[in-house]
Amino acid sequence: MKVSGTIRVPGDKSISHRALILASLADGVSEVRGILESEDIHSTAAVLRALGVEVPTLSSSFSIKGKGRRGLVQPRGSLNCGNSGTTTRLMAGVVAAHPMSARFEGDESLSRRPMKRIAEPLSYMGAKFDFDRGDGLPMTVHGVDLRSVDWNTRASSAQVKSAILLAGLVAGVEVRVTEKSPSRDHTERMLRSIGVDVENDRNQVCLRPVSHFRPLDIDVPADPSSAAFFIALATLAAEGEMVLTDVCLNPTRTGFLNVMRRMGARIDVIEESETGGEVVADLRISPSSLRGASVGGSDIGSIIDELPLLACVAAGASIDLEITGAEELRVKESDRIAVVVQNLRIVGADVQELPDGLRVKASRRALAGTIDPRGDHRIAMAFAVLSAVSGDKISVLNPECVAVSYPRFWEDLRTVTA
Ligand code: S3P
Repeated sequence: MKVSGTIRVPGDKSISHRALILASLADGVSEVRGILESEDIHSTAAVLRALGVEVPTLSSSFSIKGKGRRGLVQPRGSLNCGNSGTTTRLMAGVVAAHPMSARFEGDESLSRRPMKRIAEPLSYMGAKFDFDRGDGLPMTVHGVDLRSVDWNTRASSAQVKSAILLAGLVAGVEVRVTEKSPSRDHTERMLRSIGVDVENDRNQVCLRPVSHFRPLDIDVPADPSSAAFFIALATLAAEGEMVLTDVCLNPTRTGFLNVMRRMGARIDVIEESETGGEVVADLRISPSSLRGASVGGSDIGSIIDELPLLACVAAGASIDLEITGAEELRVKESDRIAVVVQNLRIVGADVQELPDGLRVKASRRALAGTIDPRGDHRIAMAFAVLSAVSGDKISVLNPECVAVSYPRFWEDLRTVTA
């Protein structure tokens, strides 16, 4: 298979959610360019509209008039978060600090995902939570005047950290969050860019109260998690070269790039700049032969969303790979350990499931079969890459699930492999 061309993958999903939320809470008009127009971001836009914000139809460039720090209003119906954990957890923090009650709902996958991890710190700050059953959605959040908190998270999570930071921001109280290892820090960077006093010190972050903050003027960089599919594709290709432009290289997101380089991939940074507190660069990727790797411990946070793809890369390159310390994968859009292992077995790879990860063993068998991503966008795209590099003998059921984060994925894949 040959790759060629230059593409700009869509805007970063984490940054896009945060841009919509902070623009809605700011005093004044924010300008947002390059937002990701995908199902998850439509969920955040819809939730903000239900809370009284006039969010225009998402497009490549638009403005939002913020409602001010505590200006959201009681919604008439439930808040439908679709498939989006980020929408649910970040907006639960925002709602918890407003004098209102709101019921959060989601699709089947989201309804299974754990929410006590945000309910605990936000309840400690004074909010009340009702769960219809267990730990998932539907969940009703009753907001109040929150108090300050100094919270240690059990599992490092940017969504939990951001829920607490946003709750503190809206409530106007100091909050401090300590994690075992630092999670992605887009919330902190964006807050600083609009004048909020947020300090990161290794694995600890502290937000000090402000009465209001500036609107955003932001260019959303390309999503490194979406770029990762093409980095993998170009590395495993037989010939050619690809350029990916404008990729966000925030150090809390570059785990895949670092591990691929450690495995022998040739990824050159050809142009680096900074926008809205984020490092952005163009990348040139050429085919390379890879060696085996072990990923665990402090590597995991910055590569968490790319681990299904890394497992497919190992199968495609016929190399050994061990992933450990990644039990969080079990509570993502699907149980990503189980679903990746089942599907790798279906196509004929030699793979072993671990409680907190998996092992792929080098094997020369030709890969073929039909895989079921169980509605999980990242698993569908990871196997699409594996299919392209192993002669198109793998089919992906329910291919439209990529719309959660990358609606034009199949088109872009066709363009660079044509
Ligand atoms: C996200 C944080 C990560 C990541 C998810 C998006 C975010 O989850 O897996 O896709 O935008 O904050 P954690 O909250 O588990 O870190």
